[in-house]
This record gives sequence, C-alpha cells and structure tokens, in this order.
Amino acid sequence: MAGRKKTRISPELQWITLGGLVILIFGWWVWASQFGSPDHVVSVTMPVLSDQARQGREVFESNCAQCHGPEAGGTPQGPPLIHKIYEPNHHADAAFLLAVQRGVRQHHWSFGNMPPQPQVGRAGATAIISYIREVQRANGVY
Ligand code: HEC
Repeated sequence: MAGRKKTRISPELQWITLGGLVILIFGWWVWASQFGSPDHVVSVTMPVLSDQARQGREVFESNCAQCHGPEAGGTPQGPPLIHKIYEPNHHADAAFLLAVQRGVRQHHWSFGNMPPQPQVGRAGATAIISYIREVQRANGVY
C-alpha cells in the first residue's frame, strides 16, 4: 500500500464536530420554536388601562379573545398579540385595521387564516388598538 495517503479525521475531532452540530441544531430548534408554534401562549401583565383601552378590551373580549386570548396572550386557536412580531414598528396600527376589515392569511404562524371581523367597525378597531398598545407597552413590547 505504498504511496496512498488518506487524510483521516481523528475520531476525537469527529466527535467534537458531531457534538457541535447537535448543539447547533438544538439551538436552532429552541430559537425557531418561539415563532410558529401553535400553542405559543404568553403570560401577560395587565396595566391600569385608559378609558379608550378599557372600551377596547370589551370589544376585544367579545370578538377576538376566542382566538387571541382575553389578554391577547394567545390560545391554541390564535397567536399572542403581546409579542414582538406585533410591536408598532413591525405591525403598525394600519395592520390592525386591515386585519379586522379583511382578515389575515396565515403567514407568521400555523393556526390557519384569521377571518375578517367587520362587525367590530372602525371605532371598535381603534379602541382595540389602544388596548393592545397599552398592554404591549406594559409587557415590554414596543
Ligand atoms: C378565528 C380566530 C381569530 C379571531 C376571532 C381573530 N383573530 Fe386575529 N389572527 C388569527 C390568526 C390565526 C392570526 C395569525 C395569522 C398568521 O400570521 O399566521 C391572526 C393575526 C392577527 C393580527 C396580525 C395581522 C398581521 O398583519 O399579521 C392582528 C393585528 C389580529 N389578528 C387582530 C385581531 C383582532 C383585533 C381581532 C378581533 C376583532 C381578531 N384578530 C380576531 C385568528 C383570529
């Protein structure tokens, strides 16, 4: 067998590489599971609400809470809105109005589509936005 030199990776290095991969994949999994996961429910701190936000809370509870949870912390039917995805820079108030008027196609999560909620009306939606923004601020989402 003269002249045939194989470059071989030492067994230790193989284990180290494998270990590194496992750690990477695990880290990715932990990171990825904070998005997309259907039962991602957030525990919410409720601040003292302004009058408009209190009205919004009522409208929210009767129209949105079945999916988003009474405090917008999410349920198995819908995502939490007290979440950095929905902070004002990512989802401006206009996105909330659109969601209420036209519904939302599934894109961030895997709950399916959100049906339109036209019964809420513009005033209702505006009150809901105050409610969500105040709760977001109280929970460090802004
Ligand atoms: C039948 C369940 C359901 C109801 C009722 C519901 N939603 Fe949703 N909503 C969803 C789901 C599911 C999503 C996530 C869609 C995605 O991004 O995958 C969503 C997403 C949203 C978004 C994000 C929109 C975007 O641009 O990504 C907003 C804002 C929102 N809902 C507000 C509301 C408000 C306000 C109400 C009540 C008026 C409401 N939802 C009622 C299921 C619901």
